[in-house]
Amino acid sequence: MLKFMPEPFKIKAVEPLKILSKEEREKAIKRAGYNTFLLKSDEVYIDLLTDSGTNAMSDNQWAGLMIGDEAYAGSRNFYHLENTVKDIFGFKYVVPTHQGRGAENLLSTICIKEGDYIPGNMYFTTTRYHQENNGGNFVDVIIDEAHDSTRGDIKFKGNVDLAKFQKLINEVGPDKIPYICVAVTVNLAGGQPVSMENIKEVSKLAHENGIKVMFDATRCVENAYFIKENERGYEDHSIKEIVKELFSYGDGCTMSGKKDCITNIGGFLCLNDEELFEKAKELVVVYEGMPSYGGLAGRDMEAMARGLEEAIDYHYIKHRVHQVRYLGEKLENAGVPIVKPTGGHAVFLDAKAFLPHLSQGEFPAQALAAAIYVDSGVRTMERGIVSAGRDKHTGKNHYPKLELVRLTIPRRVYTYTHLDYVAESVIHIWKNKYSIKGLQWTYEPKMLRFFTGRFEEKE
Ligand code: F0G
Repeated sequence: MLKFMPEPFKIKAVEPLKILSKEEREKAIKRAGYNTFLLKSDEVYIDLLTDSGTNAMSDNQWAGLMIGDEAYAGSRNFYHLENTVKDIFGFKYVVPTHQGRGAENLLSTICIKEGDYIPGNMYFTTTRYHQENNGGNFVDVIIDEAHDSTRGDIKFKGNVDLAKFQKLINEVGPDKIPYICVAVTVNLAGGQPVSMENIKEVSKLAHENGIKVMFDATRCVENAYFIKENERGYEDHSIKEIVKELFSYGDGCTMSGKKDCITNIGGFLCLNDEELFEKAKELVVVYEGMPSYGGLAGRDMEAMARGLEEAIDYHYIKHRVHQVRYLGEKLENAGVPIVKPTGGHAVFLDAKAFLPHLSQGEFPAQALAAAIYVDSGVRTMERGIVSAGRDKHTGKNHYPKLELVRLTIPRRVYTYTHLDYVAESVIHIWKNKYSIKGLQWTYEPKMLRFFTGRFEEKE
């Protein structure tokens, strides 16, 4: 038996890649201010910046584009998407949005009042932004171990710490907590899943206090795979059954279709409460478009509906998680410090341990991502102090415990051989780590600074 599952697809169309010389890459990263977000895609060989919208669609999804019904209102593709989401997620109402943050904007606007508190199992950048932008205060209630990259023994590192959640309820009162945001999986913890047992307990505690449970469903299929693999009683459940049960404990969700719908664009908001749904429909026309397209073309909604069906296929999701694990194991075997266990969408390098000669204020993850690019043309992403931004009240930098570089695997795009190449480059840098210098800002944007911020090397 092969240890890792081979590709459950064959390749019908290919996209040739350019490979620049090392000198060209050195020039490119300087021009980009040591920020991999500011590289041109043509300057990149293997792009592990994100798994968001970078997926390879299937022949069936591409065929779906041709039956896009581009009517301004009531597109048939909307009804297909709505029915598919209701069938798989089980929520009553579906509002399409252009991508996940469009849904986050709607949810935060309709639910959050000035001075509210929004507990969550670790923050995500855009999610927290919308919560704070609506007057809310994000409170991290993930288990402590999620902040420890070495705890590979914990299978459900995305779990909510019920004591922390209870403490917040006691301190601020349930009336100040409109909902708890439960991300399945937790991106910034390393793509770590939440167990069904934990979700049930969170749901019980929240609902006993009149607090809603809103999922960040972005990578819910990956979470369902981990439940099937590691949680007793779910071995024989289908991925679809697990996804449906998981959401049955909540009141709604935001979804970035660019991940587990295996598309290049799209998202949606799901709700069970009719009144909230009416409010979301009123707002969606302001920010996105008619409630039957939400900023998407009919063909995009068709691709999402078809992609979601494909995503819950067991072999598809097993291969995806195995690819991530394969890369993680290669690096771990070479002694490279990574977040353990490997999660659903990416391998995360622990930049503090990788570059012990740099302080967090010298942006080790940002510097490491730049160094990987120069070495091999592989584009990765900083997920550390730069992404964490500044406190909205004090203006001081957040110093997250996890200072990470994310090697994110797009769905169905790269082969195991591509991952071998990536591993070789990272291991090469690991062996030559002391040549990597710290960075300093040359331009720091006020909001979501990691996207467009610029740096130079410190002497
Ligand atoms: N929630 C999570 C957990 C995400 O990872 C993302 C996006 C969003 C919400 C927002 O969705 O991009 O469709 O607006 N994550 C991307 C990433 C950007 O690279 O991790 P969006």
